[in-house]
Amino acid sequence: EKPLAIAIDGPAASGKGTLSRRLAAEFGLRHLDTGLTYRGVAKALIDQGLPLDDEDIAEKAALELDLGGLDRTVLAEHGIGEAASRVAVMPRVRRALVEKQKQFAAAMPGAVLDGRDIGTVVCPDAPVKLYVTASAEVRAERRFREIVSNGGEATYEQVLEDVKRRDARDMGRADSPLRPAPDAHLLDTSEMDIETAFLEARAFVEKAL
Ligand code: C5P
Repeated sequence: EKPLAIAIDGPAASGKGTLSRRLAAEFGLRHLDTGLTYRGVAKALIDQGLPLDDEDIAEKAALELDLGGLDRTVLAEHGIGEAASRVAVMPRVRRALVEKQKQFAAAMPGAVLDGRDIGTVVCPDAPVKLYVTASAEVRAERRFREIVSNGGEATYEQVLEDVKRRDARDMGRADSPLRPAPDAHLLDTSEMDIETAFLEARAFVEKAL
C-alpha cells in the first residue's frame, strides 16, 4: 500500500484551505497547509528581528522549522502572509520546506497538502490534483469580510490591492511560480458557496480514486 496524496493549489483566499481540511476529514487523511510553513519561517525571522530577504539566514530558519509546532491562529495574520510571500521567492528556503512537505506526504495513510506548488513540485505524482480559483474581486471580498468579522480594520480597496500584489508575486516568481499542474482539475469557486465547492471537490476525488 502506498500513501495517498491529494494536491490542492490556488491563490490566496480561493477557499482551498477550508476545502482541504474537509477533504482530509472526509477521506481519513492527514492535512498540511504548506502556507503555514512559509508563514512560520517569516514569523521566526520577524520575532528575532532578522531580515526577510537574506537567503542564508532564511534558509537556516527553514531548516530549523518544526512542522508539528505550526500554530494557525498565531500565523493567520495578514502581515505574516505578506512576509511569507517574500521569503517564498528564495530557492534555498523553498528547497528546505519542500523536503519537509514531501516527508509529510510520504507517511501512511497519506495526506491532503494545500499550497501553490503542490501539484507541480511537492507531489507531482499525486493521483488527485485540484486547482482552486476565484476572481480577485471575490477573493478580496471574502478576505475583507473575514478581517471585519474578526474585529480588524481594512477597506475593500486595500484588501483587493493586497490580493493582487500577492498574486503577482506568487505567479511571477522564477522558482515554482503558482500555476495549475497540466493534469490538475480546475475548480472556480467565484460563484459557489463553500458547501457546493466541497461537494464538487469530493465528487472529483471519488471519481479519481
Ligand atoms: O496560503 P498562504 O496565504 O498561507 O501562503 C502564504 C505565502 O506563502 C503565499 O503567498 C506564497 O508566497 C507562499 N507559499 C508558497 N508555496 C506554497 C504555499 C505558500 O510559495 N506551497
